Amino acid sequence: MATIIDGKGLAQKMQTNLAQKVEELKQTHGIVPGLVVILVGEDSASQVYVRNKERSALAAGFKSEVVRVPETISQEELLALVSTYNDDESFHGILVQLPLPGHIDEEAVLMAISPEKDVDGFHPVNMGLLWSGHGVMKPCTPAGIMEMFKEYNISLSGKNALVIGRSNIVGKPMAQLLMDENATVTIAHSRTQQLAALAKTADILVVAIGRGHLVTKEFVKPGAVVIDVGMNRDENGKLIGDVKYDEVAEIASYITPVPGGVGPMTITMLLEQTYESALRKVK
Ligand code: GUN
Repeated sequence: MATIIDGKGLAQKMQTNLAQKVEELKQTHGIVPGLVVILVGEDSASQVYVRNKERSALAAGFKSEVVRVPETISQEELLALVSTYNDDESFHGILVQLPLPGHIDEEAVLMAISPEKDVDGFHPVNMGLLWSGHGVMKPCTPAGIMEMFKEYNISLSGKNALVIGRSNIVGKPMAQLLMDENATVTIAHSRTQQLAALAKTADILVVAIGRGHLVTKEFVKPGAVVIDVGMNRDENGKLIGDVKYDEVAEIASYITPVPGGVGPMTITMLLEQTYESALRKVK
């Protein structure tokens, strides 16, 4: 049976440490890390994510603000709002929750966020820095997965890693971070042929394709490390991952559960990067 990678536990540990670092920053420099989250519209999943981010930010001692604006906001108004927070020195991190409504150009909004406050790591400047091996602000989900590998002493050097999913948020930056640790990386996606056979060659399998229970034990080499980024609802509304946990856990060496795996680490990295951004003000 696989060792379960306890993302929830690691996230709690890191957030407790972070609260202490935040307190020290307050005492020594009088700076409180500030995070603003902009939520456009009423998407129910986004509302849950944003509430969790706010709760965790407050628990870590941050200044936290959530700006909720109606779905009908114009592009110009949203860009102006972002600009206000770029100029507000009490905020060190700005996050615009995705997805945005169809009439808004997502790329333009992400580009409007000042790269030094872009705690999501989605600005083209930060993506480029990451790709050239000089990443500062990293997309939080892959950054959180790297922390899990570290915590569990999972070595990546020379290993075959397969990332299933090629999104800008997870798949592409994940591949880069794995490469930085000397893994041999392949990216697969919805058009990949013979996916199960390819996956079976991987020592490290990161699944972020958004299809519930796609990865069965036929996809997994015995002893592989399996990281499940999926958050899907089954026909009964239950939260399920992209990996069929029960059967894969029997043959993997390590596996992340859903929920309680990758998700809590994403928020933790968001807070870490906001703290680091605040720290750069005094360094
Ligand atoms: N929507 C789903 N995941 C994310 C994320 O990591 N950041 C933002 N801004 N929006 C998201």
